[in-house]
Amino acid sequence: MTPPTPLPRTTPIPANGPIDTSPIQTTPPADTDLDPIWAAVIPETRARSNDVHLPISLAFGERLVAAHPEADAVLVRVSILLHDTGWGRVDETRIISEGFGGDWRKADIRFQHEQQGCAIAREVLPPLGYDPAFVDAVCAIIDGHDTRAEARSLEDALVRDADRLWRFDHAGIALASGWFGLDPATYSDRLRAEIVPELLTEAAIAMANADLDRSQALLKTSVLRGSAQKRTVRP
Ligand SMILES: [Fe+2]
Ligand SMILES: [Fe+2]
Repeated sequence: MTPPTPLPRTTPIPANGPIDTSPIQTTPPADTDLDPIWAAVIPETRARSNDVHLPISLAFGERLVAAHPEADAVLVRVSILLHDTGWGRVDETRIISEGFGGDWRKADIRFQHEQQGCAIAREVLPPLGYDPAFVDAVCAIIDGHDTRAEARSLEDALVRDADRLWRFDHAGIALASGWFGLDPATYSDRLRAEIVPELLTEAAIAMANADLDRSQALLKTSVLRGSAQKRTVRP
């Protein structure tokens, strides 16, 4: 394989191709070439709603590589598919208690899921014909995808953005707001305030804002907030 693409210095990273901001279900994962990988990780997709998170994130990853034709599309697609499979091999009882509380980026369970994800990539990819250099490149992205502060290549940046983008869809808000113990209105406000600024590419920022506008309208977050307080003043 060719080496990963150097990370551009301009922030956010400008797009070189079309940016699709339509609802993600209009462009599901396009090809069947990754189906053998999906089939190899079915047990791991049952952990932490990976069977929702990973396919939606792959669809976003494919949009991001369309916006960045200079990136290695297969490296991005395989890495986002596998990046969180390691959650399937850690102590599930610690996922919510440690993985989403306090300084979750530094929680031991976060490092463990990255290491286990690399182990899974090294198990499933070689028998499917992926060469050692490609497997190393996948692991370089998976290892540190949550716990390392910075992206090291364009493909790494696109995987990081795809990993965040699924949360802006109403399915992501429905699942992840529960993980953090927040109502959808509060959670989606946090996405706007805290996660949009973390996005690395112009394309992801446009997709996130468009999706969040749609999701907040759909979920009536302008009205469905503060209802508990109001209820207390009515008999
Ligand atoms: Fe992760
Ligand atoms: Fe993830």
